Amino acid sequence: MAKLPMIIQGGMGVAVSNYCLAQAVCKTGNMGVISGTGLDAVLSRRLQYGDPTGELRAAFDAFPIQEVAKRVWDKYFRPERDETKPLLSKPMPSIKPTNAWFELTIVANFVEVWLAKRDHHAPVGINLLEKIQIPHLASLFGAMLAGVDFVLMGAGIPRQIPAALDSLSRLDSTDYRLDVEGALPGETFNHTFDPKSIADWGLTKIKRPKFLAIVSSNVLATQMVKRNVPPVDGLIIEFPQAGGHNAPPRGQMQLDENNEPIYGAKDEVDLAGIAALGVPFWLAGAYGNPEMLNEALAAGANGIQVGTAFAFCEESGVDPALRDKIVQEVIAGNVTVQTNATASPTGFPFKVARIKGTLSELSTYKQRNRICDLGYLRTSYRQEDGTVGYRCPSEPIDDFLRKGGEESETVGRMCVCNGLFGTIGMPQVRKDGFVEPTLVTAGDDLVKIQMFVPEGQTSYSAKHVIEVLTSKLKVGVS
Ligand SMILES: Cc1cc2nc3c(=O)[nH]c(=O)nc-3n(C[C@H](O)[C@H](O)[C@H](O)COP(=O)(O)O)c2cc1C
Repeated sequence: MAKLPMIIQGGMGVAVSNYCLAQAVCKTGNMGVISGTGLDAVLSRRLQYGDPTGELRAAFDAFPIQEVAKRVWDKYFRPERDETKPLLSKPMPSIKPTNAWFELTIVANFVEVWLAKRDHHAPVGINLLEKIQIPHLASLFGAMLAGVDFVLMGAGIPRQIPAALDSLSRLDSTDYRLDVEGALPGETFNHTFDPKSIADWGLTKIKRPKFLAIVSSNVLATQMVKRNVPPVDGLIIEFPQAGGHNAPPRGQMQLDENNEPIYGAKDEVDLAGIAALGVPFWLAGAYGNPEMLNEALAAGANGIQVGTAFAFCEESGVDPALRDKIVQEVIAGNVTVQTNATASPTGFPFKVARIKGTLSELSTYKQRNRICDLGYLRTSYRQEDGTVGYRCPSEPIDDFLRKGGEESETVGRMCVCNGLFGTIGMPQVRKDGFVEPTLVTAGDDLVKIQMFVPEGQTSYSAKHVIEVLTSKLKVGVS
């Protein structure tokens, strides 16, 4: 492998780590990672905001099959956005998606990576959550068409990804076995993506990116390195202080007096054991400061993956007004972060920043009528007739129960999909004018981001994050 970066900017969905942030990090020689999560919706919405910088147009012009690019552009592009009107919806992912969905997803991932890769030679990564399974193949293919260098994936066990990358690099028809609740013994449900059924790409091979699995235990790390065929190229070891979804504690989930999951000795990671696996690795989850970078290097890691510090810098996808408010509130000491055990429909703990006017407040949560129209975090389940259905504990409760869900599952659930679109300033507006409320996720380190704000200023750049992180490097490390 070429020289590996010391700092990886973590993938942050939805579009918090967008192409601007990834590109800014890459320009420092480190690894920028775009979030591939929900990019079909992200691109369809961005196009409805009129492409003021012309960047989308440039990326669409670079797409190898112009007919496909044109169909997507024509469907969603609007020269101006009327913020009082609903955004166009886009098809929901399902086991057998339409060609329109495949095209949108491929183009969206191509565009994001192509834009991130401009004007530098550093590696660009794409991050996906294993649990959101159906979009993987089309997303990866789109990203690979744009020359993505690394794929980073956790939130589930990404054991099928390395083989899928091999297959997609040959433009072969590729299967992804879905986790389907209630599947009968021996029954399998595959989502299939055949690149050649979408277009004649005029290619026999595309670059196969390296794969880094994001894991939280020695057992899983060992499995991905020693037993997976083909093995992973490296690991990100992510601790539960990290923003976004966290791995649940081992064993029965127990909550403390603040309703936060209790992590214990069983959740500790033996870093010497990780180093002994012999693959490059990075540490993530409250490692975003100069001392922790030195600690990671001393433990044999190649470096660190940092999310929270980058999430609120000038180049991130967070809506600028919200970002400024959060930075000011942090400086004033008014922000805390909760590891919420029930918010995410996945059942995984999810970090929620307590910010006024967002879903972290009960009053805002209660104002929202349940609706499931993005559907990324739906669970696939086997219906009586043997076909696959989809349900989400955050959808309208009657719908969820009708689909065989348990009422207890619905308690405290938030619509993470719609909420995260608020964070990036592209919330859905309902027909009656109701604006989908925002949900902000951030790691425990949110309360420390003022260390990145230069004296006399109110915001900070990605470049400055890197400068601060590397400001105390021990001599001999480069
Ligand atoms: C706003 C935000 C969104 C995130 N979204 C994702 C995600 O979509 N997928 C993922 O694998 N990790 C996600 N993460 C985790 C980061 O990639 C990274 O591992 C983590 O932030 C590192 O820990 P830190 O938050 O202490 O810097 C997210 C983190 C933040 C702060």
